[in-house]
Amino acid sequence: MKLLVFGDIFWRKGRELLAKYLPGLRAEHSPDFVIANSENLTNGKGPVPQHLADLQKYGVDIFTGGNHSFSTMEFMADYMDAPDSPQLRPANFYESKHFRFPGSGARSFEKNGKKLLVINLISGNFLKDDVYNPFLKVEEILSAHPLSDYDGIVVDFHRESTAESYCMAEWLSGKVSLQYGTHTHVQTNDDRILASGTGVITDVGMTGSLHSSIGQEFAGWMPNFLSGTGYFSPKKETDMGPGVVCGLVAELSEGKCVRLEKIRISE
Ligand SMILES: [Fe+2]
Repeated sequence: MKLLVFGDIFWRKGRELLAKYLPGLRAEHSPDFVIANSENLTNGKGPVPQHLADLQKYGVDIFTGGNHSFSTMEFMADYMDAPDSPQLRPANFYESKHFRFPGSGARSFEKNGKKLLVINLISGNFLKDDVYNPFLKVEEILSAHPLSDYDGIVVDFHRESTAESYCMAEWLSGKVSLQYGTHTHVQTNDDRILASGTGVITDVGMTGSLHSSIGQEFAGWMPNFLSGTGYFSPKKETDMGPGVVCGLVAELSEGKCVRLEKIRISE
């Protein structure tokens, strides 16, 4: 089974880049499943169904999320709650009988006779949300959904810290086929296959504007660093010139990762 994975697809530029490059990448790599993180898809925060439909047209099958998964909740709640929804959100937000979030953090997908479980997690370290422990949550999910039941299991871990990413890789070693990171928007040069057969990369990287502050215009972000506050954020997307497409091709056999290949197209 072959997977083509993208990290954060950032705003309109990211959508345009997938429209431009995904058909060629699919023809080159023939993936069974294409997975992309949509949490920055629409206006830098959260997706809307129309933009997900656009990406499906270009060939994305499955969408993961992160700390902006619920920024567009008014448009996405029913979409995420549908039993066959392609859109996941992190599994480890606190939920109780008093409150639940729409959607699911782990879902099985079938295509080309292959069965793939996709799990989406978020960290509480350096991110603002108070979340349930992602290590314990993924252990709970995997105890009910062992790798032996699937052709592959992949985990998108949305997080900031490199140390935590490496610990998650160790935690999931031999239990999943591929564990990759999203959220920092920078592709890391540490893709590797562990002895257990788990493929790992700390961050797949962003698809969006190359010369930008992780996808956003400098004019909108710079005041935060000049003032030492966090009061400012870009309200619009301007044309910021060339883009970058970051992705990962993973080949799986009997649940194990047998090949990893980073993709980075820099315009
Ligand atoms: Fe994020």
